[in-house]
Amino acid sequence: MSLSVVILAAGQGTRMKSSKPKVLHEVSGKAMLFHAIDAAQSLSDDVVVVLHHQAERIEKKITDHYSGIRFHLQDAEQYPGTGGAMKGIGFKHERVLILNGDMPLITTDSLHALVAGDADINMSVIKMEDPSGYGRVIIDEENVKEIVEEKDCTPEQKTVQTVNAGIYAVKRELLDRYIPALSNDNAQAEYYLTDIIKMAVEEEKSVHPVYVKEEEFKGVNSKLDLAQAEVIMQQRIKEKLMMAGVVMHLPETIYIDCRASFEGESILENGVTIHGASKIIESHIKSHSVIEEAIIKQSSVGPMARIRPQSSLTDTHIGNFVEVKKSTLTGVKAGHLAYLGDATIEEGSNIGAGVITCNYDGKAKHRTVIGKNVFVGSDAQLVAPVTLEDNVLIAAGTTVTKNIAKGELAISRTSLKIVSGFFDKFFGIKG
Ligand code: UD1
Ligand code: MG
Repeated sequence: MSLSVVILAAGQGTRMKSSKPKVLHEVSGKAMLFHAIDAAQSLSDDVVVVLHHQAERIEKKITDHYSGIRFHLQDAEQYPGTGGAMKGIGFKHERVLILNGDMPLITTDSLHALVAGDADINMSVIKMEDPSGYGRVIIDEENVKEIVEEKDCTPEQKTVQTVNAGIYAVKRELLDRYIPALSNDNAQAEYYLTDIIKMAVEEEKSVHPVYVKEEEFKGVNSKLDLAQAEVIMQQRIKEKLMMAGVVMHLPETIYIDCRASFEGESILENGVTIHGASKIIESHIKSHSVIEEAIIKQSSVGPMARIRPQSSLTDTHIGNFVEVKKSTLTGVKAGHLAYLGDATIEEGSNIGAGVITCNYDGKAKHRTVIGKNVFVGSDAQLVAPVTLEDNVLIAAGTTVTKNIAKGELAISRTSLKIVSGFFDKFFGIKG
């Protein structure tokens, strides 16, 4: 489709009450603006983002993640407003879809509906019980006549319940002529993009209203809106996964990042959190476990375990209160209360309760390498860098500070002393 997309993201976002630019606030782990960019890139190879407030910070964040995005800096002092945002942008294609950076819930299906047909302008409209705050859309039969901003409405216009959702698909030729001709003669002394509708109607162009869902097109302006958008996005993510075969116990208590992926049949118990681009393959994640950007394959985790970034578990059992970080475990059992960081552990090895990899010496991180069929007894400390070869036995309570060769036992304990009758003597019990 020969379509360019422009995303308006220059506004200040005052109501968000945040030092972070509004469009960088995240919904299900991804910045709102990134949700818009993903939708835009699925439709077009010509995507322009309009910036002004904290432009540098937003541009950097985008270029860290995307390539091929064009940026347009709005001269918001001279030309404030949504029309001002469009001034001076050249587009590659004949049609331009105009999106807002703060609408993370828009689906590509709805955007397809907006770019369908051959009207000169398609504009998104919503029927609302309470239209306050929005531009009112004056529709005469099938055609839009005008958009009147709330601050410019007559009392009668204020009662109109059809509002402008702020997304438009416009022929480029019209933008090229109308945008330079916009004036700021209105209650806010801003250049309104919405005035292009009036101009099109005067030239008898076709302006079609496309009715869209409020849920998708409601802009996120405050942290309350952000939390409400999160609820809707989570519901969508989880419904899709359940339909694809993932079992969820009490799904409303589960949080899943939009970048996470699942394969095969997995079970997520209540209270599970999955962050980042985690990959869960045929695994069972038990109650209140937290998975952060990790790969879990044919394994069981938890309850109450934490698997941190750059970890990969295969055919592994992780029990309660075990933390794993930047480690690769294959065919391992770590049933209780352990910290396994910067480690590689191979098949058949068993990690006892209370085992700690001492991976940090105060300056740098070091690796622990554990071979096959190693038995690490409870409460052992493995001081990295250290290697335990295959078939090694580490006695409970041992502090391992040297590499242990294949087949060896390592034991470090102070000898056990037993004093009979001590208790009664110490507490002065006669008897
Ligand atoms: C706009 C519409 C209104 C519609 C509403 C839907 C106009 C004049 N009015 O109003 O009819 O009902 O959206 O949400 O267009 N932006 C810039 N530069 C600016 C100002 C805004 O890039 O100078 C961006 C914002 O970052 C935002 C979008 O444009 O992404 C919309 O701006 P906003 O201030 O929310 O417009 P509204 O006044 O709500
Ligand atoms: Mg708005």
